[in-house]
Amino acid sequence: MRSLRVMLVPALVTGMMWTVPPERTVPPSGVTSLQGLPAGVTPDMVREGKRLFGGAGLCYSCHGPDGKGLPELGSNLTDGQWQHSDGSYKGIVGTIEKGVSAERSSTGIPMPPRAGADLSDDQVRAVSAYTWTLSHSGS
Ligand code: HEC
Repeated sequence: MRSLRVMLVPALVTGMMWTVPPERTVPPSGVTSLQGLPAGVTPDMVREGKRLFGGAGLCYSCHGPDGKGLPELGSNLTDGQWQHSDGSYKGIVGTIEKGVSAERSSTGIPMPPRAGADLSDDQVRAVSAYTWTLSHSGS
């Protein structure tokens, strides 16, 4: 009994040390390193942007949860083809800030400025960073 306790205590202590995960630097997208991200973009922004894309930012409701687009709603954001900017991180920020008017939309369906989701400037930058990664996996 006594020897069991002696063994368990150090096992518990080491167990606790190992349950603290190391700082994650790899974003949950195809981007594998900070070097591949545009200037000013951090993996944390990409993570926050992913959360917004599938939640409060409402992007998923028109572009699909995977960003591949939904018929007659939002276009595919993963194919590297851009109709409303040059597809750079800054270009994407501009599209999300201004939205897309019905006249400029290829389907006649508009995208409201900031997706109609009342996003802050930081949230626009984060969701733009994530959107950028959708067509830049592994770069
Ligand atoms: C109400 C539907 C709707 C919502 C919500 C929406 N979009 Fe869009 N989005 C569109 C439409 C429509 C277009 C224009 C597509 C076209 O011209 O075919 C568009 C275009 C875009 C473009 C430009 C694509 C290009 O080819 O240049 C980006 C980037 C984009 N959306 C990102 C987002 C992000 C990020 C969100 C969430 C913050 C979002 N959208 C929310 C409907 C939506």
